[in-house]
This record gives sequence, structure tokens and C-alpha cells, in this order.
Amino acid sequence: MLTARRRDALDAVAATCKGVKAEIVTADLGKPDAAHALWAAATASGPIDILINNAGFGYFRRFDEVDWSRDAELIQLNMTSLVALARCFVDAHKGGAAPAHMLNIASTDAYQSVPNMALYAASKAFVRNFSEGLHDEYRGSPLSVTCISPGGTDTAFHAASGGGDYSWIASASTKSAAFVAQAGVHEMRAGKRTVIPGLFNKLTCFGVRFLSRRLASQVATVVLGKPRLALPARSAT
Ligand SMILES: NC(=O)c1ccc[n+]([C@@H]2O[C@H](COP(=O)([O-])OP(=O)(O)OC[C@H]3O[C@@H](n4cnc5c(N)ncnc54)[C@H](OP(=O)(O)O)[C@@H]3O)[C@@H](O)[C@H]2O)c1
Repeated sequence: MLTARRRDALDAVAATCKGVKAEIVTADLGKPDAAHALWAAATASGPIDILINNAGFGYFRRFDEVDWSRDAELIQLNMTSLVALARCFVDAHKGGAAPAHMLNIASTDAYQSVPNMALYAASKAFVRNFSEGLHDEYRGSPLSVTCISPGGTDTAFHAASGGGDYSWIASASTKSAAFVAQAGVHEMRAGKRTVIPGLFNKLTCFGVRFLSRRLASQVATVVLGKPRLALPARSAT
């Protein structure tokens, strides 16, 4: 079951799914109540045993330079819809004996504050704390919850976010989407609590414990560079 806003993009992904039946439900999870409607539509044809909460966006821009409507959409998509889907999934599996897996996508930005991505980083800290808490609540049961925190990943995210001219460190540590997805699915199936794909990203998230929070924030500013002048128009409405 694949979901996002753009049907044509989902059709293209479905065409690459060999050996499995891929169904599509379009949804705009940046809108209130879309998550419950999605869950109802997605489960109409049968139960769901794996939930991957991947959809999310961020913008690389100072807070006061972005419309409130975009902030509200970010909060809805990155946090509220994720929690709503998590709740539907947990309710569906409560007391069940069959294995069920939830994979939530946070970010290495969950490990510190990030100037010019302040709300995005805060939303990912929320996803991380929420997911790790759920993992511990359901430890020992057939329901496992895994949080993956990728670092820079080569996707459409950066063009859409108005990503800046990243430093060589950020560029050199960028991973492919396939690498990140494989790590996430592998560790989710193993019932792991937390995944940080890539050695550099693991070291960064570990090392940040030894910096003051202010210094970690300053380092993030240097690593990410400056925002581009114009924020791109939204890819879908
Ligand atoms: N790329 C990175 O460096 C990086 C690093 C750490 C974490 N992440 C996280 O990884 C996740 C995936 O991002 P990505 O890098 O693959 O970015 P992406 O290429 O922009 O993909 C975002 C996906 O989310 C969907 N989506 C966006 N808004 C949506 C909405 N309102 N309702 C439903 N679906 C929506 C998009 O499809 P439609 O546009 O068709 O809706 C697309 O499939 C996000 O949670 C992101 O925060 C990314």
C-alpha cells in the first residue's frame, strides 16, 4: 500500500514493485483528519502489518521568513498525522499475536537544534522521542517500533526545502535513498529501537553528546551553510 499526494509518482513507484501487489491510496497528510481517512481506505482491503511513516518535509530558512500556513502543514505532516497513523496501527494490533512493525523516519537533526531548520529539527526530535518511548512501551510484545534517523540523503527533499550550499562534510556524508531504506527495513524487521545509517552519521550523533547544546547548534550552522535566496514553490497542494 503506497501513499502520497501525487498519483503519477506513486504509479511510477508501483511499477518498480516486482513480485508484490502494490495498491495506491492518495492522501494529503498535511491536512487534518487525512490520516484517519487514509487508514480507513488502506485497511478496507485487509490488515496492515508494517507501517512506515516516511512522509515529511522541511524548509531551510529563517523561521520568520516562512508563512504560518507552511509551519502548520509541517506540524500536521511530520508529527500529528504520524501520531494518528501510529495510533491506528497500535489499536489494530493491540493484544494480537502476529508480528507487527512500525518504522518512523526522524533525522540526525533530531539530536540537536538546527538554526534555519528549527521547526523541522524540533519535529524530528519529537518523532525520535515518541518512537523510542513507544518501542519501550511495547518491548516484549509482537509489536515493534523502530526509529531511523538518516543524515543527508540524496532525494528531492533538498531542492524542495531550499537547501543551502552545504559544506563538503555534509556533501561527503550524503547517502543514497536505497542505502537508507535498506538499513531501515533491515533493522525494523530485527525489532531494533534506533537506526542511524552510515558511520559518519553514527559518530556525529554520538559525538554531539560531548558538546554543549549551543556549540552543537553552531556546528550545524557551519555544516549546513547558508539558505538559498528563494524558497521553491510547493511541489503539490
Ligand atoms: N533527504 C534527507 O536528507 C533526509 C534526511 C533525514 C530525514 N529525512 C526524512 O525522510 C523522509 C522522506 O523524505 P525524502 O528525503 O525522501 O524527501 P522527498 O524526496 O521530498 O519525499 C517526501 C515524500 O513524502 C511525500 N509527502 C510530502 N508531503 C506529503 C503530504 N502532505 N502528504 C502525503 N505525502 C507527502 C512525498 O510525496 P508527494 O509529494 O507526492 O506527496 C514524497 O513521497 C522525510 O520524513 C524526511 O524528513 C530526509
